[in-house]
Amino acid sequence: MPKRTLGYRGFGLTLEVPENIGRVIRRVRRERATPTENLVVAPPPAFEVDTRDRQRRYWSEFVANASRDADAQTSETDADVVSSHPWYHTIDLLDGSVTPGRFDHRRLVPHYGLPADLRGKTALDVGSGDGFWAFELERLGAEVTSLDVETFADVDLPRALHAIFVERPVNLSFRRGFEMAHRRRGSRIKLINEPIYDLDPDEVGTFDFVHAGDILLHLRDPALALQRLRTVTAGECLIADCFDPALDALGVGPGLTRYRGGWDDVTWWTPALSTLVQMVIDAGFADVEVVTTYSLADRGSAHGPWRAVLRARP
Ligand SMILES: C[S@@+](CC[C@H](N)C(=O)[O-])C[C@H]1O[C@@H](n2cnc3c(N)ncnc32)[C@H](O)[C@@H]1O
Repeated sequence: MPKRTLGYRGFGLTLEVPENIGRVIRRVRRERATPTENLVVAPPPAFEVDTRDRQRRYWSEFVANASRDADAQTSETDADVVSSHPWYHTIDLLDGSVTPGRFDHRRLVPHYGLPADLRGKTALDVGSGDGFWAFELERLGAEVTSLDVETFADVDLPRALHAIFVERPVNLSFRRGFEMAHRRRGSRIKLINEPIYDLDPDEVGTFDFVHAGDILLHLRDPALALQRLRTVTAGECLIADCFDPALDALGVGPGLTRYRGGWDDVTWWTPALSTLVQMVIDAGFADVEVVTTYSLADRGSAHGPWRAVLRARP
């Protein structure tokens, strides 16, 4: 510890002084200061507010088209679904045909950290979309449950956007692609249609393996969702989600996230990877490790957003 000598009228005293003494003294002074001494009034930094006009126009148009599509869904065949569903996943229908997905995850599978064998195990896939990962878990031998919302009404939309959907309810089924692929593949996956927030071990039990892919970014409350995932995980949970490496590059540690507000592609947040890991730990998981990071572009794009796969245990 550094030493300081104090002198007074011929007397001297040498003291060991902690290195952060300056900070301690400043804090004591601050605590003693009167409100006017420690008040700083300054002009706010410059910023722009997004009035969301572009997104409002986009969604109003979307709702108009979707109502028409919903009417057409009532009497469709499997072939209609293959050709007209906005497929997110590229799924092998096991009859020589493959769905025209926006993403093809097949080459990602060896890097993704799925267990090699899930025979005799229970697995839960949360936010399955068209079902690519749920069908993978079934292929590995698990007894699989898939949870997803049923319609737009159950999605975490920003309030003003939700109002557009309330005015013109859209009955497009989120399970349309999954149900068709399920039938065509002869799958035995059990479907639960409810929001992730409703996951309750007293109702669904706990699972040996839980997968939640690309869902946290779509949630207003990802921290609550992670807590719900923790309550139903008995063995291992694999969480894949988007992150922004530019935030990690700032080097300030966990905590940074971009707020997006749910308007574009119902995306609410893009956290730093360190924040994502911290959120998983804060939800009560232990042994959190990053299995891989990857960027998968959708059809027609050169680059996709960065995503990370995290493995976590209770
Ligand atoms: C981008 S897709 C991800 C599909 C798949 N899990 C994957 O990793 O490729 C997001 C999925 O999350 C679902 N989802 C969105 N909000 C949800 C909520 N509150 N509860 C449950 N599922 C939700 C959507 O319906 C959609 O199927």
